[in-house]
Amino acid sequence: MTFDRKLSRDQTLRSLVEKISELPTLPHVVYKVLQVLNNPNASIRQIAEVLEQDVSLSAQVLRLANSGFYSHAGGATTIDRAITSIGMDSVSQLVFTAAVFNQFELNSVPSFNVREFWKHSLGVAIASETIAQSLGHREPALVYLSGLVHDIGKLVYFQLHRDEWLQVCEWARLERQTIAEAETTLETIPHAELGYELTRHWRLPLMIQEVALGHHNSMTLVNDLEVSENAAVIRIVNLANLLVHSLRYGHSGHNAVRNPKKDLVVQILGDDANLMPLIHKVHVSLSRSEQLLISVAGAESTRPSAN
Ligand SMILES: [Fe+2]
Ligand SMILES: [Fe+2]
Repeated sequence: MTFDRKLSRDQTLRSLVEKISELPTLPHVVYKVLQVLNNPNASIRQIAEVLEQDVSLSAQVLRLANSGFYSHAGGATTIDRAITSIGMDSVSQLVFTAAVFNQFELNSVPSFNVREFWKHSLGVAIASETIAQSLGHREPALVYLSGLVHDIGKLVYFQLHRDEWLQVCEWARLERQTIAEAETTLETIPHAELGYELTRHWRLPLMIQEVALGHHNSMTLVNDLEVSENAAVIRIVNLANLLVHSLRYGHSGHNAVRNPKKDLVVQILGDDANLMPLIHKVHVSLSRSEQLLISVAGAESTRPSAN
């Protein structure tokens, strides 16, 4: 019985991977900003020139830069100004954020609220960056991008295989499980695998692909991910995800909250006594992000009721 289920699961996964390969890729400017993030010597003009070719994306980026999240943007009216006031890394993050949000035009349904999903994603991006900065990680801007798309497989699921995705959400709600737990119980396709396939299709950096694949398994993976140089980032996003759920910031399909395991915390922070101050830092960063969310995803709408 289980074996039959596995066969049909593999077939469905194959057909979904085919459909993913037909989805549009990200705009050219995203790949340009990713290069910039890897190149400390890139010039402001270089990035502004590419961005200015995409009028609607530059307008979105300027709106985000002036959203109030960046208190020092000071009414920037050009991309050059925005870069000068909030920095190249922040502008690159905004370009990426706007471009990814633009790829999905999905309406919410009662059991899955798309705006709350984006709020969760943005929350995990900001929390991941905050943790990376407090650990002195050398690429906090890239860690932010990894956090932003960690659950992107859920949107792929919702867009391409909606009936099954809504059943997973419903099961998680009734059984008080997380989506990852419900996927295991129901032996459905893990959203992590769909996220991995999409980030691969988008040719995003390996760090982002591995976070999409491993963000629920960072302590138990015994394959290549455990020895990958991105293992530390996978753990950071795993912790950020748990903290954002426990702070009830946004909603990604389930109400269940799981505390981070002590060994995960110790592995990341050295001592679990460092967790409370970190939660406080994350909480402060998230409280500033509401304006950013409104600029990307619009004003508040009804979210699925928690129980
Ligand atoms: Fe997830
Ligand atoms: Fe998540």
